[in-house]
Amino acid sequence: LIVSCPESVQLSVSEGLSVAVVQEKELLCKEFLSRPKQLLIDGKWVNSVSGKTFETLNPATEEVLCRVAEGGKEDVDKAVKAARRAFETGPWRKMSTAERARIMLRLADLIEKHADELAQIETLDNGKPINESRYVDVPQTVETFRYYAGWATKLEGETINANTNFFTDTLREPVGVVGQIIPWNFPMLMLAWKWGPALAAGNCVVLKPAEQTPLSALRIGELALEAGFPDGVINIITGFGADSAGEAISHHMDIDKVAFTGEDKTGKLIVQASTSNLKRVSLELGGKAPNIVFADADIDAAVKGAITGIFFNQGQVCCAGSRLFLEKNIHDEFMTKLTERIGKMRQGEGMDEKTHIGPQVSKEQQERILNYIGIAKGEGAKLACGGEAPAEMKKGYFVKPTVFTGVNNDMRIAQEEVFGPVLAVIPFGTMDEVAEQANKTTFGLSGAVWTRDVKKAHKFASHIKAGTIWVNCYNVFDPAVPFGGYKMSGYGRELGKHSIELYTNIKSVWVNMMD
Ligand code: NAI
Ligand code: MG
Repeated sequence: LIVSCPESVQLSVSEGLSVAVVQEKELLCKEFLSRPKQLLIDGKWVNSVSGKTFETLNPATEEVLCRVAEGGKEDVDKAVKAARRAFETGPWRKMSTAERARIMLRLADLIEKHADELAQIETLDNGKPINESRYVDVPQTVETFRYYAGWATKLEGETINANTNFFTDTLREPVGVVGQIIPWNFPMLMLAWKWGPALAAGNCVVLKPAEQTPLSALRIGELALEAGFPDGVINIITGFGADSAGEAISHHMDIDKVAFTGEDKTGKLIVQASTSNLKRVSLELGGKAPNIVFADADIDAAVKGAITGIFFNQGQVCCAGSRLFLEKNIHDEFMTKLTERIGKMRQGEGMDEKTHIGPQVSKEQQERILNYIGIAKGEGAKLACGGEAPAEMKKGYFVKPTVFTGVNNDMRIAQEEVFGPVLAVIPFGTMDEVAEQANKTTFGLSGAVWTRDVKKAHKFASHIKAGTIWVNCYNVFDPAVPFGGYKMSGYGRELGKHSIELYTNIKSVWVNMMD
């Protein structure tokens, strides 16, 4: 169990986890960065058909980390062919499920063995604080593979006593060739959420990492080959989305299922593209989560929760608690404590072990956030702190932790996903008022309630239309607990046994028993 926040990460460190990486000045991923970055197709590293490459940047310094092969439609075609052959005739489905589990566990062990290197890769490519990469992203990735390795040997059909004239049972079968398109906010963790259940169920995958953060997937691809995945079971096509590899995956006639995490607009395009062959689709899209604090809550805990809720991963979290509802009679006390604590947060390069909040992933995201800050000001929201790029940072895509008070739930800053360190504080008077406003959003990914009243907590947990509700906590995850959206936050549940549903088909078999 990992509570994903800078504070708890530090807590875990003081509880005795190794802090090797943060004291290690040597760049463990230097050798990896200097190697060519190719596509993984059919168990081999190859250049893209076009020969094109693209740059990936360090968002803290704006420097080019390395160039990466730019896959396009032809490369996706090659990867799908390899995956199809591996699925239909390769050893993957013929091997025992125990052997499949063993390979997945080997991958988990290898990721753990290279944890410090992978953490550095993630921080350099994405910008997130090294302590978060090391104590959240990497271990959660490992745990996700271990959890799903356990499922490989436990998939079952059932016998149904429907009719004595027939013996009827169901088989749970893999869907086949699966396309997986992932975002840049948790690059390796999203890979694990996608690969874990797909591979446990016996599918073959074509993964497209986000163009902003292709590196950790490539390193894990190397480790996957070392772990012994047969050729074609795992394919990685780095490249772009629209008019490129992502779009080719979503339209492909020989891909049986697409799993996507990203923007709602892109999700709609993927659903439209899926009509080509009516492939199955699961979507994990944005959010605008209500984080509701009642006057009877443990206020200090709620202040920490509000910070974790919005500033973890620089606010680039689909379940971020971006709407903070404060009961009016605690509003001022809460704001004083909140801004005081924010004042203590250190912003800087993710590679600096003392950093609590790093840069946004890209210039595009930084500009988008700064634009939303302008919109909020224009709407009449009051700036409590932040509100700009820090002047002392000469380089990098930083945005100061920002809080707006006096927000009205109808404002754009309360309705649209900013995906940055920008909190909208909305005061409320009555339970009915906050109950109505919490659900007044097109999204429904998550929500949280802070109260000491069990009845109130349960009432809100069932009232809020969202896939995850946290009570007196925020951003808590475990591979065994399902995660996904209501409304325009998408459909399908990842993690837990529910993700197995996404990657399997049920087949009913009827055997005539009549003489
Ligand atoms: P995006 O949805 O465009 O990108 C996510 C992935 O989809 C990337 O791998 C990208 O290459 C791919 N993609 C883009 N267009 C595609 C298309 N037409 N067909 C197939 N694949 C395509 O998200 P983007 O542009 O990086 O970020 C924009 C906003 O989306 C963010 O500001 C944030 O609000 C939201 N977002 C939400 C995420 C989440 O976890 N739910 C993650 C990333 C972004
Ligand atoms: Mg986009």
